[in-house]
Amino acid sequence: MRAYRIDRPGTPDGLVLHHGDPASPGPTEVLVKVHAAALNRRDALILSGRYPLPARPGVVALSDGAGEVVATGEAVTRFRPGDRVTGSYFPRWTDGPLRPELADQLGCTVDGLLAEYAVLDEQALAAVPDHLDWAGAASFTCAGVAAWRALTGGARLLPGQTVLVLGSGDVSLFAVQFARTLGCRVIAVSGSTTGAERLAALGADHIVDRRRTPEWSGEVRRLTGGAGADLVVETHGPATIEQSVRSAAFHGQIVLLWVVGDRPAALRITDEAYAGSLATIRREFVGSRADLEAALRAAAAHGLRPAIGREFGFDEAPQAFRAFADRESVGKVVIRAAG
Ligand SMILES: NC(=O)c1ccc[n+]([C@@H]2O[C@H](COP(=O)([O-])OP(=O)(O)OC[C@H]3O[C@@H](n4cnc5c(N)ncnc54)[C@H](OP(=O)(O)O)[C@@H]3O)[C@@H](O)[C@H]2O)c1
Repeated sequence: MRAYRIDRPGTPDGLVLHHGDPASPGPTEVLVKVHAAALNRRDALILSGRYPLPARPGVVALSDGAGEVVATGEAVTRFRPGDRVTGSYFPRWTDGPLRPELADQLGCTVDGLLAEYAVLDEQALAAVPDHLDWAGAASFTCAGVAAWRALTGGARLLPGQTVLVLGSGDVSLFAVQFARTLGCRVIAVSGSTTGAERLAALGADHIVDRRRTPEWSGEVRRLTGGAGADLVVETHGPATIEQSVRSAAFHGQIVLLWVVGDRPAALRITDEAYAGSLATIRREFVGSRADLEAALRAAAAHGLRPAIGREFGFDEAPQAFRAFADRESVGKVVIRAAG
């Protein structure tokens, strides 16, 4: 079987194709024939050597992937050959709160899914609903779960409340779709025409163009009659946190998914924008297997399919990474496994 390993992060040819035999599943493990895998921003950062957490040298790339169970260890009870499954971002975090000792990540500290076969513990897998094709099934693990948990992991979001998303990255696209399934109104801030079109097609009610309106919080407040957004899916951290805080309702939630940036955040807790409100800043890091399963159940109930941007063949994985890094498309970048 073939697998792409990140042998030389930070170099132009850091992603290296390896040939070998698939491992045999241990007693609680499952052998999966991978049909599709998908990229996330952190995969590009890992390959370029800029991810803030250390990746294991030579790790098989990508957290996101889906395939068919082809063999199971003798103690496996959750799956049978023929089942369609996808991997959970933190293979050892099944439910409850994340703890540091559960923080292994697929495609970072443990082997991921950019391979023709993968062996995973049965606890690290979720069943894929029938309405998803392989590209869709491979797309939930990171961005889909992060968006789902951003919306559902804190104070209950009610139908009719307003969700704000920033940009047309994969987390934002999923957040628009999930927010609509929860009956929420969605405002999206975007700086690109294609991004704005995709956000609107997925159900965003209002698009604010950040090229024309760099201080977009004023427009968010205007669109909400002065009240502000009930929940902000904050995907850009230092670059946007000040505008996000100014956009949030008095008791709003700001779900901070990214804290890395080239410059310090333009927000101090003493600033009137924050000090004068009771908004909560909540940190999230993707989610547990239970979150993945809940997101997939919600997707099945609403016929939700991920927005796919571009698909590549297995042989084209390096090109897929380059196209993703260069933001050539909007929506998930998917790599189809051979066969
Ligand atoms: N904590 C977690 O659980 C978690 C999970 C997944 C991802 N993340 C992080 O969340 C971030 C988003 O990831 P992603 O994959 O959804 O998207 P991404 O590919 O990083 O999003 C890029 C898009 O965001 C918009 N954007 C860029 N700079 C912006 C700015 N200064 N203000 C407003 N919008 C801006 C642009 O969209 P437009 O062209 O439409 O403006 C751009 O195409 C990444 O940093 C990623 O590492 C965190």
